Amino acid sequence: MSNPSLLILAGDGIGPEVMTEVKRVIDWFGAKRDLAFDVEEDLVGGAAYDKHGTPLHDDTMAKALQVDAVLLGAVGGPKYDALDFSVKPERGLLRLRKEMDLFSNLRPAQCFDALADFSSLKKDIVAGLDIMIVRELTSGVYFGEPRGIFEEGNERVGINTQRYTESEIDRVARSAFELARRRGNKVCSMEKANVMESGILWREVVQKVHDTDYPDVELTHMYADNGAMQLVRAPKQFDVIVTDNLFGDILSDCAAMLTGSLGMLPSASLGAPNADGRPKALYEPVHGSAPDIAGQGKANPIACILSFAMALRYSFDQGDEAARLEAAVEKVLADGVRTADLLGEEGVTPVSTTGMGDAILAALD
Ligand code: NAI
Ligand code: MG
Repeated sequence: MSNPSLLILAGDGIGPEVMTEVKRVIDWFGAKRDLAFDVEEDLVGGAAYDKHGTPLHDDTMAKALQVDAVLLGAVGGPKYDALDFSVKPERGLLRLRKEMDLFSNLRPAQCFDALADFSSLKKDIVAGLDIMIVRELTSGVYFGEPRGIFEEGNERVGINTQRYTESEIDRVARSAFELARRRGNKVCSMEKANVMESGILWREVVQKVHDTDYPDVELTHMYADNGAMQLVRAPKQFDVIVTDNLFGDILSDCAAMLTGSLGMLPSASLGAPNADGRPKALYEPVHGSAPDIAGQGKANPIACILSFAMALRYSFDQGDEAARLEAAVEKVLADGVRTADLLGEEGVTPVSTTGMGDAILAALD
């Protein structure tokens, strides 16, 4: 059997810097755990624009549709700010999401004990936190028609439309229930069924998917505004949260920040199953290209490394190896190794991007 395949798109700014450390981690799994990947690398974002005049070449798109998983660094930067909207670096990422039909966006919020002091919340509220927000990514109010700014009488009106079909709700609900079975077996679905018809349908369909195919998973429903309050009040009550595109955008940012730095946050976006039953998948850190620190060896590679851990778990069925990698990150943090973004304690000298990679590889050994 051939090795599982990975397409690496490092992108711009700190993207290539953090990805260098991920590649060392990938090599480690090949050498020490007999888990080799066929890795191909290509360009995305500004880097692709510089070479091809487009932020995602058709050949790269075709590769992304063929491989088992795509790992992306970050795109964008001031150099490209003046470009026409149609060729902006972000368009490369949007095209990947659209053509891979990545409808399920997974954003974990996990608290590493060593960093619990970083949270804006009290330590005992976040210590041990491990929740997953599943955000619907390809439909809802960001895409619904009609949309636009129109004349109405003697003033203008701005319109966006929240729109969900049953099948769109059905597939993201399934993705949340599948995840829950691999975790704490609990799903909380969030909408505003009290004031929105799309929310009524959302609740109905999620309940039906549950009753039909996932009765073993505990399901609760919550209005999204209450969900926001509960996330800040007592986040540990949740395991998996499933919600629409708009609420998910806000709730996932809120949940992520419960646990601290942008340099720590991974994500996954999953699409429809390939021929072999695995979902199409793209893994990327939540952060951007960080032009303010790019090229200085300061970037924290952990978000990107944890994104690879998510790939191990969700694309390659290597949950144990993912846990091994996460434990190495946990150990390094417990040992007090810090990149500059994680400084807080007095008298700690930050390590470089490579230094953090070295420490994680040593912990893996
Ligand atoms: P950003 O995430 O790049 O940076 C925000 C702040 O966090 C900066 O101070 C940065 O130095 C810091 N930071 C981010 N990642 C870090 C890491 N791994 N280690 C240490 N510090 C880190 O967001 P910003 O500044 O709004 O955007 C910069 C560029 O990135 C823009 O061109 C934007 O369009 C693009 N971007 C790309 C994304 C993507 O590729 N998915 C997501 C967000 C922004
Ligand atoms: Mg957001």
